[in-house]
Amino acid sequence: MIFDIITLFPEIINSYCACSIVKRGVERGIIKVNPYNLRDYSTDKHKKVDDTPYGGGGGMVLACQSVFDCYNAIKKEENFEFILLTPQGEPYNQKIAVELSKKKQLILLCGHYEGFDERIRIGLNPREISIGDYVLTGGELGALVILDSVSRNLEGFLGYDKCALADSFSSDLSGLLEYPHYTKPRDFRGLKVPEVLLNGNHKEISEFRQQESLKRTKKRRPDLL
Ligand code: ADE
Repeated sequence: MIFDIITLFPEIINSYCACSIVKRGVERGIIKVNPYNLRDYSTDKHKKVDDTPYGGGGGMVLACQSVFDCYNAIKKEENFEFILLTPQGEPYNQKIAVELSKKKQLILLCGHYEGFDERIRIGLNPREISIGDYVLTGGELGALVILDSVSRNLEGFLGYDKCALADSFSSDLSGLLEYPHYTKPRDFRGLKVPEVLLNGNHKEISEFRQQESLKRTKKRRPDLL
């Protein structure tokens, strides 16, 4: 899967992708990450990509030219989605992550400054996504949230494919939060592992985990039920 990320800070993208499981996914060729530096597409002699807003008001606005030219320069796969990261977008969740993982290519546009010239929306018609009800200084964290959460659903990305199926919000857990996990030792300073997990009875273990998932979801996220 290809992630083309349009940004003013390609180093943020590169440094994240140089670590951990995402790095391994890149090395194995499961994902390809291409950061595009918006300034490289500016026709301005100072490589300016923003300007002051018509009508006044503070801050700067990301201008059309470099965004349109960069977008048009990216080779499109047949099955791609163009996404603009903005707090005004639809709220991101696991369902969208799974949906996006079926695409061949995601083009992610990260903003900075006060916002985008509205003609970027009108002319390029992106899908707008927000990663939460707060305002970030730029879209890079949002793009990385999408890259990471989408990649986890790709075959072979996690090494052990079942893992993503047992995640919180996953269809295997009927959209519930994940059950609690335990590892060695059985007794850590008086804190014991529940007996049921030690008896090797897979049916009982599965029932216990389902109940725990439900209990946790009721308590923490009743909105998911
Ligand atoms: N850019 C700034 N804030 C954002 C948010 N909450 N989600 C996505 N992109 C953003």
